[in-house]
Amino acid sequence: MDYFNYRDGVLYAEEVPLSRIAAEHGTPCYVYSKATLERHFRAYTEALGSHSHLICYAVKANSNLAVLGLLARLGAGFDIVSVGELERVLAAGGDPAKVVFSGVAKQEAEMARALEVGIKCFNVESRPELERLNRVAERLGKVASVSLRVNPDVDAGTHPYISTGLKDNKFGIAVDDALDVYTQAAGMAHLKVVGLDCHIGSQLTETAPFLDALERLLVLLERLRDQGIEIDHLDLGGGLGVTYRDERPPQPFDYATALLERLSRWEGGKRLTLLFEPGRSIAANAGVLLTRVEFLKPGETKNFAIIDAGMNDMIRPALYQAWQAIVPVDTRHARESALYDVVGPVCETGDFLGKERELAIAPGDLLAVRSAGAYGFVMASNYNSRPRPAELMVDGMECHVVRARERLADLWAGETLLPAGSV
Ligand code: LLP
Repeated sequence: MDYFNYRDGVLYAEEVPLSRIAAEHGTPCYVYSKATLERHFRAYTEALGSHSHLICYAVKANSNLAVLGLLARLGAGFDIVSVGELERVLAAGGDPAKVVFSGVAKQEAEMARALEVGIKCFNVESRPELERLNRVAERLGKVASVSLRVNPDVDAGTHPYISTGLKDNKFGIAVDDALDVYTQAAGMAHLKVVGLDCHIGSQLTETAPFLDALERLLVLLERLRDQGIEIDHLDLGGGLGVTYRDERPPQPFDYATALLERLSRWEGGKRLTLLFEPGRSIAANAGVLLTRVEFLKPGETKNFAIIDAGMNDMIRPALYQAWQAIVPVDTRHARESALYDVVGPVCETGDFLGKERELAIAPGDLLAVRSAGAYGFVMASNYNSRPRPAELMVDGMECHVVRARERLADLWAGETLLPAGSV
């Protein structure tokens, strides 16, 4: 459920018509709904009820400070994959003691900063990373809390680019090696083993792969216990899917209920704190990309609707053939409908936001690309020297600019001409 709804034929974000936002702030722009973010976050905390848990929002999905600040105030922790994401969390008022650090290539300086601010846990993805972390912690006179990210080798049944829990993927430590690596970690003076972690992929639309992964993790936990290695938390990663079109993914409640049921039948399950790292399921349907039709270009085999947003603003359709709904903002005009490929201004044939969409539109009309709150702005680039769009957050009747539109001069700030005479 989200708070983007039509009222008298016009699409609103909460109490604000998107047409007003376009008039005041221009297009393209990302518009987020605060109430939707809040609702999606609470769906997790309410589903887990009194079972000890921490929801570590995956910053990569949407790292705008206003989004992070809102979630921090709601009590969220954060899953980060770089020191840049860590600094964003801190700048937004997030609590470092609720931060978990994932990622396969953590650099020494990133580890040092995370240790300095006192993050909750490093999700370690390989043996050399474990050794590096122990060295950095020793140098700083600290003890790093660690979880091993285990690759359980389950098929998440999602797009290959966003599937991460298979043997062939670069992520995590193979489940068969995990016991050995845990034993090594437990023997390192500057590491403290606190958790077990996995993340099998993104946009999962079934609960079964999560439960399969859990089953493998429980076997590992028993083996660890036999070795005298006790852990405090189990981090099941992110990955819960959302409805882009007609998918019916499990809701956090269904997912949590299934997990808690399984854990209740496992000795020690009640004592384990559960961590989750949801990104998409919190942010995706809390945002739209607002864009305007520049031209309609009828063709012999295809009609094109050329809009002012392109693959540089929203790359998911071009990169993953992702389908996102594209809807008119104002449906009150009488227009003839036709089938369009909705394409952007970028000089690439792959620059499309939607193909074969039935739309009743005219040049100048506004369109909203739905489900754009996750992996939207964060993946935007300046390709074709296009400034990145503004980001706005609606809160009831108010609309706040939470990131100003980039200016042209921002594009080459930091670049320099060669010294005079060298050319
Ligand atoms: N934790 C880890 C370790 C991850 O790698 C990810 C996502 C998440 C949590 C959050 O997963 P979520 O709840 O959002 O599914 N750009 C792609 C998605 C890439 C996901 C990468 N990892 C897309 O637009 O579909």
